[in-house]
This record gives sequence, structure tokens and C-alpha cells, in this order.
Amino acid sequence: MKTEIYFDHAATTKLRSKALDAMLPYLQDSFGNPSGTYALARQSAKAIDEARRSVAKTLGCRPQEIVFTGHGTESINAAIKGIAFAQQQAGMGNHIVTSNIEHHAVQHSCDYLEKFGFETTYVPVDEYGLVDPAAVANAVNERTVLVSVMLANNEVGTIEPMAEISAAVHERALSMRRQIPVHTDAVQGANSLDLRIEKLGVDVMSLSAHKFGGPKGAGILYMRRGTPFLSQESGGGQERQRRAGTENVAGIVGTSVALHEAQANREAYVEVCAPLSRRITDSIVEAIPGAILNGHPKERLPNNVHISFEGAESDAMLSALDKLDIAASAGSACTSATWEPSHVLTAMGIPLRAAAGVLRITFGPENTDDEADYLLSVLPKIVADSRADAGASAK
Ligand SMILES: Cc1ncc(COP(=O)(O)O)c(C=O)c1O
Repeated sequence: MKTEIYFDHAATTKLRSKALDAMLPYLQDSFGNPSGTYALARQSAKAIDEARRSVAKTLGCRPQEIVFTGHGTESINAAIKGIAFAQQQAGMGNHIVTSNIEHHAVQHSCDYLEKFGFETTYVPVDEYGLVDPAAVANAVNERTVLVSVMLANNEVGTIEPMAEISAAVHERALSMRRQIPVHTDAVQGANSLDLRIEKLGVDVMSLSAHKFGGPKGAGILYMRRGTPFLSQESGGGQERQRRAGTENVAGIVGTSVALHEAQANREAYVEVCAPLSRRITDSIVEAIPGAILNGHPKERLPNNVHISFEGAESDAMLSALDKLDIAASAGSACTSATWEPSHVLTAMGIPLRAAAGVLRITFGPENTDDEADYLLSVLPKIVADSRADAGASAK
């Protein structure tokens, strides 16, 4: 397999060795279905039980408040639809408040709910992608059943003031004598941010294992005790009736180990990544005319550099990088034939010409200074070539 310089850690991360080691027995000899009554099954049930307790300890919550899911997207769908429908059924209302820079898992879940009589208020962000806690609280009304704001943006890396948002919403809910759960999509936060529930003040949180060195196909949903919830899976009674389906035992075990590792080592992660991030950003902005960092200059993930190169084209730059064995991203997948700018960049008011030529470079502690140097040595020409090509084809 060819070795690439991997600068796409926001997309996915390599499985941690400790997670792999912990998983292996459950992929091989200890393969029992945890719902069984015999010894082999009990081994699996015990492994899930221990993983749940470990995750709860890491997040500072009760083990019963943890639901293991199939991925971040599933956790988010379950949180948003499960709470919205339960609240609607209880006659609590039909209104959801979220921001306009959320991941599609959140936005499309809200779109789906609109088919069932829900309304969504999208709170705008500022030029850095920051959500204002007061604006979120002000958007809450007597019919609001759920608030969902992401902890950190997957494209531009801006970190949202989640503790302030939770506090503002809870205060407003209290004044209206309502229960309004606050959900956060914390998928991008596990490597560098403190996920303890008491710190964030949220009622519901979604995580995805493959973003923090866990396996793909595994997610976590934290749900505070007493949160209204209607399961979105029909089937067996696994996960205390909240997520039917035979459990991914190895995935759950790997998830718990990886989350522990990620949270235990997050300070070291920041210490390594933040200087690298500054160096890459400063060098690019200095060396390439018209390069602009997107997202908040300070309140941002330490491993995210998201830059606009006005007049260049994301696809052309990414394919030139790929030819040099450098894996990076534009931050948002562009699937349609008619190009549309990312909704995140649009929400931040970034002009089309700057939104069309972006690179998202996301790294981890294993990336080296040499790799950064190599990127910095090839990027000016790649941007210049893309600008020249785009200029020529526009004529
Ligand atoms: C912020 C955010 N939320 C949700 C998801 C979806 O996670 P998963 O790939 O596990 O479904 C992603 C994945 O990129 C993400 O970055």
C-alpha cells in the first residue's frame, strides 16, 4: 500500500493499537451474542458492561445514560428524531433550534422532521462560525422541544461555547417551566476538548469512534436520565430499549478504550498540534498571496487549518496534492454536478470565489514537521497553477 502524508484527520483516524488489542478477542474466540444465556454470551455481555462503565467514567455520567450506536450519524439521528417525536407525542411542541453550520446529520434530521409537522429555527453564526448563546436562547419559544448545536465545526474547526449555550437555554427553559434538552454533536471534539458532561452542561451528546482512534461503525449517544426519547430502531430490547439490534461487541470495546485514551491524552495532543497548526497557517498566509484562514483565529480545534485561496479551485488543488501523496480535503463533500458552496462557508458570509478554493488540512500528533515542510514547499505552486487554470477557463 502506498504511504501518504495524511492530513485528513477530521475525516477519520487510524485505529489505536490499544483499541485493536482490546477488540481482537471479540472478533475471534469471544464471539457470543450478548443476549444469550450461556458462558460465551455472558463474556460478551460483560465486555459491553465494562465498556459502558468506562465510557461513563470518562464522560462523568451514569453507565445507564450511555447508548452504543452504529456511528456518529446514528447517534445524531436518534437524538434529534428520538427526542423530537417523544416530545411531540407528549404534546410539548414541534419546534427545534439549531445553528446554520451543523453537519448534514443534524440538518437533514431536522429536514426530515419538518415532514412530520416540526419547524426549525436556524440561528445564524458570525464571520468566524461562532454561535451566540443569547441568540440560541432567544430562538427558544413555548413550542421548542430540543436545541442542537455542535461542539466544534468539522469544516472550519471553530469551537462553540457549548457550556454557555446550555446554560442560556436551560435558564430560558426554566423561566418557561419547560424541559428543553440540549444536544451537542461533539464528533469533532474528542481528541482535544474536555467532554465531561458537567463541563458542557448538555443533556445529550453524540460521538463517533473512528474520529478518536476507535473503530468505524461505532458511536456513542449520551442521554441524561429522564430525557424524553422514542427509540428510532424497532426490534429487540438491547441498550435498554433505546437501540435495538445485536451489539457490535468488538466495536463497543474498542470505542471505550479509544475514548479513554483520547480524553486522557488530550492535553498532550493540543501541545503537539497547536504549534504545528500555527506554523502551517502562518507559513501559508505568508507565502501565498490572498490566502485567508477561515474559522475563528483562536477558538478553533488545534489540528484544523482551513484556508481560502481566492481564484483557485478546491478539486484541482486536492488532486494535485493527491498526485504528490498528500491526503487533504476541502471540508465538505461536493457530490452534485452543479457545484454549490459549503453551507458552513455560506453561513459565515464567505464570498463564492473564496469558498470555491479551500483546503482543509487536519492533522494529528503523529504528523511530523518534515511532513508539514513538504506540504509548505509544494503548496504555493499548486495554488498558483490552480488559479492560472481557473483564470484561463473563465476566459
Ligand atoms: C461534526 C460531525 N458530525 C457528524 C459526523 C458523522 O459521523 P459518522 O461518520 O460517524 O457518521 C461527522 C463526520 O464527519 C462530523 O464531522
